[in-house]
Amino acid sequence: MFNMKDNPVIKVKDLTKKFGKFTAVDSISFEVRQGEIYGFLGANGAGKSTTIKMLCGLLEPFSGQAEVAGFSIRTDTEQIKRHIGYMSQRFSLYNNLTVEENLTFYAGIYGLSRERIKKRMDEVIVQTELMEYRSTLVSIMPGGLKQRVALANSLLHQPRILFLDEPTAGVDPILRRRFWEIIDELSTAGTTVFVTTHYMDEVEHCHRLALMHQARIIEEGTIQGIKTKTFIHPLLEIETDDVVKAYAALYEKKDEIGEISIHGAMVHIIPGRNIRQSRANISRILKNSRIRIKNVTEVHPTMEDVFVTLIRRYEQLEK
Ligand SMILES: Nc1ncnc2c1ncn2[C@@H]1O[C@H](COP(=O)(O)OP(=O)(O)OP(=O)(O)O)[C@@H](O)[C@H]1O
Ligand SMILES: [Mg+2]
Repeated sequence: MFNMKDNPVIKVKDLTKKFGKFTAVDSISFEVRQGEIYGFLGANGAGKSTTIKMLCGLLEPFSGQAEVAGFSIRTDTEQIKRHIGYMSQRFSLYNNLTVEENLTFYAGIYGLSRERIKKRMDEVIVQTELMEYRSTLVSIMPGGLKQRVALANSLLHQPRILFLDEPTAGVDPILRRRFWEIIDELSTAGTTVFVTTHYMDEVEHCHRLALMHQARIIEEGTIQGIKTKTFIHPLLEIETDDVVKAYAALYEKKDEIGEISIHGAMVHIIPGRNIRQSRANISRILKNSRIRIKNVTEVHPTMEDVFVTLIRRYEQLEK
């Protein structure tokens, strides 16, 4: 089990970024502790990359504050760069160089000594399981392995904190799983990992999570914490002889039932506080509309259900 260390290594308070009049990151606050894997989940354009770039000292904030490894992102960006590894969303490798040559090049940029380069090169190659690819040209490697070379690059100077911006985008499931095993190992060894993703299955690897939507963090916490906060009860999955009619009839009386959505041939309902009352109302409404219920099952919400529900609730509040 993850052992929560007390001291946060990333502290963010009311951080905001504007591009002209457009607010890309809107007053976000959170803390990440040492050794944690902290996930940033959000759709395209939510503000994930902009947040990462500010935390890595690559983009100046409009307002608010953040400290990374104890240094201010406003004044100490050079110190921050020494303590962090950053794998950007569109990382660049030299395609016409081998894995080892790429690593040597980046180690030079970090200013590592010749002996240190050799030692660290061997270590990161083992860590990212690239042993058999040392002399392989990057151009002929599959995407998933290139991602591992980029990860190896970002680990050369032994950073305490890793920032990974959608590190597994476009990578096949097997290599994605392997990538996450490497991330888990790094975290166990004490490295803090801040990672953005679109993939719902990947959040299972995160100790804590922030859901970002339209520049704001709309929910934050452990996966279980977010799930139980969002859904007091399990979802009700209802199978009827006519899903469209059932949805229409239930939607009309949604105040008596809860939140309703269609999933394939099923109607999903997030019941209100009184689940027994909700269930009784569902039966009555469908019976009155002459719709036959084939089956009602309680299902446990997935992270995708949670995400969709939170965004819908947020947008209703905004109206
Ligand atoms: N340099 C810039 N100038 C103007 N607008 C920008 C700039 N960089 C980002 N944006 C805008 O800010 C918003 C947030 O962008 P950002 O790249 O942070 O999103 P993201 O969550 O990383 O999305 P994706 O999942 O597509 O990578 C987007 O609407 C984007 O168009
Ligand atoms: Mg991005």
